Amino acid sequence: MSEIDDTTHFGFETVALGEKQTRVDEVFHSVARRYDVMNDLMSAGLHRVWKQNLVSMLRPSRTRPFHHLDVAGGTGDVAFRIVEAGGPRTRVTVADINAGMLAVGRERAAKRRESRVEFVEANAEALPFGDASQDGYTIAFGIRNVPRIERALSEARRVLKPGSRFLCLEFSRVDLPGLDRLYEAYSFAVIPRIGELVAKDRDSYQYLVESIRRFPAPGAFARMIEAAGFARVTHRPLSGGIVAIHSGWAM
Ligand SMILES: C[S@@+](CC[C@H](N)C(=O)[O-])C[C@H]1O[C@@H](n2cnc3c(N)ncnc32)[C@H](O)[C@@H]1O
Repeated sequence: MSEIDDTTHFGFETVALGEKQTRVDEVFHSVARRYDVMNDLMSAGLHRVWKQNLVSMLRPSRTRPFHHLDVAGGTGDVAFRIVEAGGPRTRVTVADINAGMLAVGRERAAKRRESRVEFVEANAEALPFGDASQDGYTIAFGIRNVPRIERALSEARRVLKPGSRFLCLEFSRVDLPGLDRLYEAYSFAVIPRIGELVAKDRDSYQYLVESIRRFPAPGAFARMIEAAGFARVTHRPLSGGIVAIHSGWAM
């Protein structure tokens, strides 16, 4: 990715920065209705464990008001877990650029009679929230899709109150010998096929696996989080490095 030559990657393709968001939006409009079931199928339910780990690290207050922002929050999967873990005064705003994903999220909230989660159409690169307005920020499997990652990180830093936490759950680099080759084969041979059969959209899931390969290695991404002004930046691999949770503190 380079902001100097105005290009970035859409999976393995090099595209203009302005084109990436349009292509990403097409992907999530196409898969929105099958998005949650696909996550269960592709990860054999593991995405639930990863998201639960993210929420455990966040530890939303059970007693005080806690205004949390879940960016690229899609269908609300992380947000619902946060309000469950928090107290009655925990509120989560799901900010996502895609109206299709948000529509599914709103339907899920209505079915659960969950009024502590609200859904807002917004771009991670230019959030419509005030400086130091949020008690927490999460982004799960979202930042990889954002064309200008540096801008999204800088926005995260801007909206967080001092002393609050940034947490990012993202695909990472498998670091267990043997598992790496198995994972590679599964990703490229099986996931696009499941996408074709279940979501009737092979290309979107081909993009998914390619975008995972294109995402910076965990050390490099940690340095980007530091460069955005976060302190005490750490990352923790889960499931042999299939995913990692990156953490930073706004000071
Ligand atoms: C893989 S989904 C993750 C959804 C949810 N966080 C989860 O873990 O189930 C990626 C989401 O990122 C959103 N997204 C992509 N680019 C974005 C941007 N620039 N700003 C906000 N959301 C974006 C997509 O619309 C999509 O809902």
